[in-house]
Amino acid sequence: MRVKLVAGNWKMHGSLAANLGLLDAVRAGAAGCKADVALCVPYPYLAQARAVLGGSNVAWGAQDVSEHAQGAWTGEVSGAMLADFACRYAIVGHSERRSFFGDTDAVVAAKFSAALKAGLTPILCVGETLSEREAGITGDVVTRQLDAVLAKCGAAVFSRAVVAYEPVWAIGTGRTASPAQAQEVHALIRARFALEDAGIAAGLRILYGGSVKAGNAAELFGQPDIDGGLIGGASLIAADFLGICAAA
Ligand code: 13P
Repeated sequence: MRVKLVAGNWKMHGSLAANLGLLDAVRAGAAGCKADVALCVPYPYLAQARAVLGGSNVAWGAQDVSEHAQGAWTGEVSGAMLADFACRYAIVGHSERRSFFGDTDAVVAAKFSAALKAGLTPILCVGETLSEREAGITGDVVTRQLDAVLAKCGAAVFSRAVVAYEPVWAIGTGRTASPAQAQEVHALIRARFALEDAGIAAGLRILYGGSVKAGNAAELFGQPDIDGGLIGGASLIAADFLGICAAA
């Protein structure tokens, strides 16, 4: 039985003052939650997340990680630095990184590998754009994104990783994939892993992300291959995020 995971992705939101109430409320509200819960916050707030969430059942993580271990890479943050702040998770390959910051499949694979080397659990995001869906190539796109990481790292390391299916057209649009649409792609992702290793495929947590709300979470999470969610906008409001955690 896979324990569900609900991970918030704050994206570039927050302030020290505003975060405090949100972190406190999630910490308190998630106590006793049956699902695993995590918040991926902007880098400058990792220390605050650690201070507030430490000792609770809410983990914290980053939204990206450098592919490099150290050196002259101005502006980059390494996996070891994230581990220094006791991060459990690092998101890699988010569609906003892929589309706005040029993270190619190869870069995403390198970041995934760097996260693992630092002892972090990478959350590998995959997903098609609206035009790719309309062209009927959703499966090809998602498979290509997975294969770049599988080719570099192999399937076995996915015992220490999470996959998130985030259709780009559903991110921040209020247009959620239907449970059936999401389940279809989640099943395809699990089948891709089953070709490599049946045990890894069976244990892999595959999250859905894209306009998840408290009101649609239970139906999405009820699908056989949906093991939780990666939550953007709704992770910025404690009651909304906790409602999603309760649905898991
Ligand atoms: P929304 O939940 O705001 O659609 O964002 C999803 C997302 O991109 C999480 O990583």
